[in-house]
Amino acid sequence: MDIVICGCRGRMGQAVVKAANDFDDINVVAGIDIKEDLSGEYPIYSDINKIHGNFDVIIDFSNPAFLKSLLSYAAEKKIPAVICTTGFSDEQTEEIKKASKTVPILYSRNMSLGINLLVELSKIAAKILGEDFDVEIIERHHNKKIDAPSGTALMLAEEISGEMPEKPEFIYDRSKERKPRAKNEIGIHSVRAGTIAGDHDVIFAGNKEIITLSHHAESREIFAVGALRAAQHLAKVKDAGFYTMKDVIKIF
Ligand SMILES: NC(=O)c1ccc[n+]([C@@H]2O[C@H](COP(=O)([O-])OP(=O)(O)OC[C@H]3O[C@@H](n4cnc5c(N)ncnc54)[C@H](O)[C@@H]3O)[C@@H](O)[C@H]2O)c1
Repeated sequence: MDIVICGCRGRMGQAVVKAANDFDDINVVAGIDIKEDLSGEYPIYSDINKIHGNFDVIIDFSNPAFLKSLLSYAAEKKIPAVICTTGFSDEQTEEIKKASKTVPILYSRNMSLGINLLVELSKIAAKILGEDFDVEIIERHHNKKIDAPSGTALMLAEEISGEMPEKPEFIYDRSKERKPRAKNEIGIHSVRAGTIAGDHDVIFAGNKEIITLSHHAESREIFAVGALRAAQHLAKVKDAGFYTMKDVIKIF
């Protein structure tokens, strides 16, 4: 499978190039980034339309500003795309869904196989434990992270909400009010310290029993490997459509 990586000079782009070396069936044939360089082990173009020849899948870890040209190229040439960039507006997310009507597109705010399994396991737990257990999420990240809570903690909370009998309120701060915890809420808590790559705990606390589902990320390599697995999946499915990492981990 021949792939093109958008944002190939960035932290994630480089991680994907490195991880692809461990896949016998994947070749990086070109990259896209702001600065062109045709002298390296694969050509880097500043414009996706400059790519010559055929390839199978685009993997994008760049910037929302690149989305428009990515989608028009993918739709016109019928090349499946794995979109891993985050921070899209609602309109841009709609554009992704629109393009997926003509070409296979996989989009996920978290490409880790483990996190996506954690989402599915948390949904099962929420469905079974229902209203008898309180759900709280604790996320921990390094001290350079500027947003809180993490997008992944929000993704977990949103997915769990869909399994609860009533839509819960997300509570980020308990310091403002003095009252017991309401039944229909999910507490989301952020820790920022040191160099923690990313930890997420989902706590289901019932009457004298607690279940905690945890994911511990050790490096950004996990997102790169997930993106490559997603690319393998899209190359196989062939049919246009909007795919997520749930399709890749194939639970149920
Ligand atoms: N879905 C996930 O699991 C996941 C995981 C990690 C990062 N991300 C997201 O992936 C994106 C990249 O992350 P990163 O840490 O590698 O960032 P980065 O800043 O290190 O790299 C981004 C790269 O994209 C390039 N770029 C920016 N605008 C471009 C444009 N218009 N056209 C072409 N190239 C352009 C930059 O020059 C840079 O080389 C971010 O949106 C980040 O939030 C997603």
